[in-house]
Amino acid sequence: MTKKYETPLLDELEKGPFPSFVTEIKKAAAKNSMAADELGQLEKSFRDKVTYWKHGGIVGVRGYGGGVIGRYSQLADEFPGVAHFHTVRVNQPSGLFYTSETIRFICDLWDKYGSGLTNFHGSTGDMVLLGTVTENLEPIATVLSINGFDLGGSGSAMRTPSCCLGPARCEWSMIDTLDITYELTQEFQDELHRPQFPYKFKFKIVGCPVDCNASIARADCSVIGTWRGTIEIDQDAVKDYAKKGMNIQEEIVNMCPGQCISYNENGLKINNSDCLRCMHCITRMPHALRPNGEKGATILIGSKAPFVIGATLSWVIVPFMKMEPPYDELKDLTRKMWDWWNEYGKNRERIGELIIRRGMREFLEVCGLEPTPEIVKEPRRDPFWFWTEEDLSKKPWETYIK
Ligand code: HEM
Ligand code: HEM
Ligand code: SF4
Ligand code: SF4
Repeated sequence: MTKKYETPLLDELEKGPFPSFVTEIKKAAAKNSMAADELGQLEKSFRDKVTYWKHGGIVGVRGYGGGVIGRYSQLADEFPGVAHFHTVRVNQPSGLFYTSETIRFICDLWDKYGSGLTNFHGSTGDMVLLGTVTENLEPIATVLSINGFDLGGSGSAMRTPSCCLGPARCEWSMIDTLDITYELTQEFQDELHRPQFPYKFKFKIVGCPVDCNASIARADCSVIGTWRGTIEIDQDAVKDYAKKGMNIQEEIVNMCPGQCISYNENGLKINNSDCLRCMHCITRMPHALRPNGEKGATILIGSKAPFVIGATLSWVIVPFMKMEPPYDELKDLTRKMWDWWNEYGKNRERIGELIIRRGMREFLEVCGLEPTPEIVKEPRRDPFWFWTEEDLSKKPWETYIK
């Protein structure tokens, strides 16, 4: 195909030292008229300083409310290739493991039915197949399904859960992130495919507090592997680090947020009861330090990007949960959280915002969770002290009256 449009403004974006999305779209445009028109419309957008995409619109696949993000151009006559330009989210394998054969299958599928443009992986975690027309959605979903793939989440649904590669390649993983992700995906198929919540709900599962998936900042519910025990110390290895030039006082002791490490001629000492399990010391001295004891996960709630209120980080709700298949405790807790959020959440209110609006106290009560010190985020604002009618009838204050 010859070049369809002149794109002087986009061409500028190919001149820097970095790989350019413009170059990639041009490659696709050489054989695909949707990608070609995408370039044409984008150039015009840049020139006019107006985005010519209409927002949203209902489009989907039979049986699915989620999985397809509808996009239409306002300039369908001028750029017919992007009259529809829907995005299909495909549920990625846990840990993002593919065979080259699978990648070829996806690419061929997208050359045939879509624009040839993909994004591996979208910010939600899915494979993101960009740009197709409404008529192709059913065939795409069918071909994917026959080959063992499923659409991901979108809209006010549970989004495709994602995880770090965990025990598949990482020695620090304290939980089987891949299995938990797969289990949640299977268990909550309905919530994944048929939007029914006030807004989106994201799970991200990581094997340890290093948090390679940034779950603490990006998930309504973060599941973070942790341990309940001590940090094992190999004093010879500590000496080795010192000998090789590590300033242990500065890089390890002073950086410990629990202020629970000391170091002198007798070696390194950790007061484990004050340890916050941040993993800082361990990641700096991986040959000398190692988490020891029972493994499980910390469950957190409520992170999100700015929307109704600003960005929030997730907040601990269960300091330690055992993580054994089929993860019933996590599933039960999830259903309780969702029931409450569905009942009280306003349209487009994330669960973390609802907790801020109605209070952590109520959230803990409906979830049947015990308040613990780890849950307190703002000490003078969040006294989760529950007095019920029944407690008061026992006149607890009398124990203080001599
Ligand atoms: C000024 C224009 C736009 C802004 C500010 C914008 C902003 C964003 C942001 C912040 C996200 C990330 C949401 C998240 O995952 O948390 C996102 C995702 C997305 N946007 Fe846009 N967007 C714009 C235009 C468009 C256009 C023109 C299209 C398609 C024609 C588009 C398609 C998408 C899709 C498909 C995703 C999800 C991708 C994924 O899963 O990673 N957006 N957008
Ligand atoms: C300790 C935790 C992490 C490790 C070990 C890690 C490791 C890596 C590695 C090895 C790559 C390069 C892959 C390649 O060669 O193409 C990579 C790429 C990337 N990482 Fe991470 N990562 C971590 C955390 C994160 C976090 C928290 C984020 C996002 C908030 C992130 C976002 C990315 C992105 C967007 C790329 C792709 C960059 C590109 O396309 O060139 N990573 N990461
Ligand atoms: S989060 Fe922890 S377990 Fe997962 S890949 Fe990163 S370091 Fe490994
Ligand atoms: S894990 Fe973090 S809090 Fe615990 S001892 Fe190491 S640096 Fe300190």
